[in-house]
Amino acid sequence: MTRLDELRESVEGCRNCELYRDATQAVFSAGRASASIMLVGEQPGDREDLEGEPFVGPAGRVLDEALELAGVARSDVYLTNAVKHFRFEQRGKRRIHQKPGITHIEACHPWLQSELEVVRPSTVVCLGATAGRSVLGRPVKIGAERGQVIDDALPGAAVVVTTHPSSLLRLRDRGDYADELRHLADDLRLAAGVR
Ligand code: URA
Repeated sequence: MTRLDELRESVEGCRNCELYRDATQAVFSAGRASASIMLVGEQPGDREDLEGEPFVGPAGRVLDEALELAGVARSDVYLTNAVKHFRFEQRGKRRIHQKPGITHIEACHPWLQSELEVVRPSTVVCLGATAGRSVLGRPVKIGAERGQVIDDALPGAAVVVTTHPSSLLRLRDRGDYADELRHLADDLRLAAGVR
């Protein structure tokens, strides 16, 4: 059993915060332990919670489009989330996404830290402010910091902060979707070029 398999098993039993109570399951990572790029999302969404895999829902489809535009194969990246359980509010039959709080990000941080130690990526891409908060350990403003290579935050890895793919979903029917997708792809390409 690899160290990642061991981590996956431990995450399944995680009780570091209360989110495990309502979630279907913990969602660990996807991708190769030998990947040089690690993409970090916020938390599993509704589909991910049901399927147990990261980025398999609508935000994952946006991410796939951006990766394709950037010329980066999904199979070449390690994909994970800052928070491993879905936080939501039940409204009737619908489960409405709730942003994880700082306590959830901190409670989950040891898992991400262990993943960083095992995968040892050369670049970490933070998809959104929650991932940025977890990886950099401080509040992050995406608009001000995206698209830069931060090379003094993690030992042995550069960090690139960008927008979360789900923020593009609401632009789908407007003209700015294509521009925003290109912007996200530019950030991913930048990250892929850092060695
Ligand atoms: N959003 C995320 O941040 N992560 C997922 O896995 C799915 C949607």
